[in-house]
Amino acid sequence: MKDLLIRPYRPEDAAHLARVFHRAVRRGTGAHYSLVQRLAWSPRAGDGADWHARLSGIETVVAELPSGPVGFMALDAGQRFVDFAYVDPCVRGRGVAATLYAVLEGRARTMGLNRLQTEASRVAEPFFAARGWVVVHRQVVRRRGIGLPNALMEKDLAKGIRRAEAAA
Ligand SMILES: CC(C)(COP(=O)(O)OP(=O)(O)OC[C@H]1O[C@@H](n2cnc3c(N)ncnc32)[C@H](O)[C@@H]1OP(=O)(O)O)[C@@H](O)C(=O)NCCC(=O)NCCS
Repeated sequence: MKDLLIRPYRPEDAAHLARVFHRAVRRGTGAHYSLVQRLAWSPRAGDGADWHARLSGIETVVAELPSGPVGFMALDAGQRFVDFAYVDPCVRGRGVAATLYAVLEGRARTMGLNRLQTEASRVAEPFFAARGWVVVHRQVVRRRGIGLPNALMEKDLAKGIRRAEAAA
């Protein structure tokens, strides 16, 4: 995608990313989640300070166009967990998440992590499945008392390396 920049999170992104999250949930998940579920998931665009606390302690990467941030994804290396895959619906399906993910998986490999997990929404599950992730189990998480189905998924990053070693 022309003019797309992927860069590390900065504190001034927090308020923008709060709005990206809200739009991605409210407008981007309607095919899989009811209005009641979407309202529970994101009742309103969150507070920048709150989002800064959530995103600054982990490896968050931001996708930015000249108009501003349009997506983000994060790697909690300590927990070996990919979190927050959210792209603004106005640029959906144009490779933003794919580009963010490629950067984070590369980062995880550089750190020597050999297994990653995520909790994928029904929207994101095919995206991760297409990148070699498998479903560990399906579950229902509760947000503000409302059940949201998702899937605990994982990827064995060492698999490709072991195959290459066996072939050598
Ligand atoms: C899921 C999400 C992050 C994907 O972002 P995106 O930038 O639109 O995805 P991309 O354009 O990079 O998609 C890359 C590939 O995944 C596929 N893909 C993405 N979403 C998909 C979906 N819902 N179903 C099937 N395939 C999907 C695309 O077709 C594309 O395939 P290709 O590489 O063969 O062309 C975005 O749709 C989103 O924010 N959704 C709403 C919020 C949400 O549920 N986030 C996940 C929380 S775990």
